[in-house]
Amino acid sequence: MRWRSSQSRRPQPPPRCRTRACTARVLRSRVTLSPPVELRTARLVLRPWKPSDVEPFARLNADDEVMEYLPGPLERKDSDASADRISAIIESEGWGWWAVELVSTGTFIGFTGLSRTAFDAPFTPAVEVGWRLARPAWGHGYATEGARAAVRFGFDVLDLPEIVSFTVAGNRRSRAVMERLGMTHDPREDFDHPRLPPGHVLRRHVLYRLAREAPTISVRRGQEAGDRRHGQRSGRDVRRVAGRTRALGGD
Ligand SMILES: CC(C)(COP(=O)(O)OP(=O)(O)OC[C@H]1O[C@@H](n2cnc3c(N)ncnc32)[C@H](O)[C@@H]1OP(=O)(O)O)[C@@H](O)C(=O)NCCC(=O)NCCS
Repeated sequence: MRWRSSQSRRPQPPPRCRTRACTARVLRSRVTLSPPVELRTARLVLRPWKPSDVEPFARLNADDEVMEYLPGPLERKDSDASADRISAIIESEGWGWWAVELVSTGTFIGFTGLSRTAFDAPFTPAVEVGWRLARPAWGHGYATEGARAAVRFGFDVLDLPEIVSFTVAGNRRSRAVMERLGMTHDPREDFDHPRLPPGHVLRRHVLYRLAREAPTISVRRGQEAGDRRHGQRSGRDVRRVAGRTRALGGD
């Protein structure tokens, strides 16, 4: 794996953080990967964005059902600006919210990946895992499959001590993805999203956490049978496909 910095190997944070200060230091450290990373799973490619993604991204951002628990739906110009911002982060840092493409058809279905939480809250600084898929792509396990690869990348390559996720309390589908990833929710950490005004219907959020040691896998439909705790080499489901190949999940 090549690094944009002069270091010949990736920065090594402390193997285990036992204090908030240590965790904050790791989460604030800027890790830049060049060229940008792509991840492959059995059915998905998580890759940097292409100009052709902008159109289907605008369609999903204009869908009331997709945006039910997000501020939206988005107008075309706002969707395009969002795609630009997401894409720019991947280009500059090498990781982020990757565009998700189906291996079988090459169809863009949305995004999943990791992002530094961009507001202050009791749980920040943090890196979050997130997702947004077009409606026809729901109900196939794609969000969990892609997010699982992103989480493993976050732990194995970025050496994150923890990954969080959050959503509106009523977003059952999103919470189900978090739970399938092995994330846990403590109601005492529910919070009001600081970017939404008091009284806004989407303001109250639930927070889920996943520590590096915790299981990231829950068995689903036999597809991941025999699956394992995070950190154990696990199969052919995750690997870099751009630049120098790196097997994240083992082979
Ligand atoms: C949140 C979101 C990504 C979840 O999508 P999803 O398809 O429900 O989640 P998964 O990809 O994990 O798929 C799980 C479903 O696929 C089914 N499935 C079908 N084939 C499967 C397979 N081969 N493997 C695993 N699951 C499979 C599961 O049974 C499950 O169905 P169920 O919900 O009826 O139990 C999607 O609803 C979405 O994009 N929402 C809008 C954006 C949003 O709210 N984002 C979060 C903001 S914080």
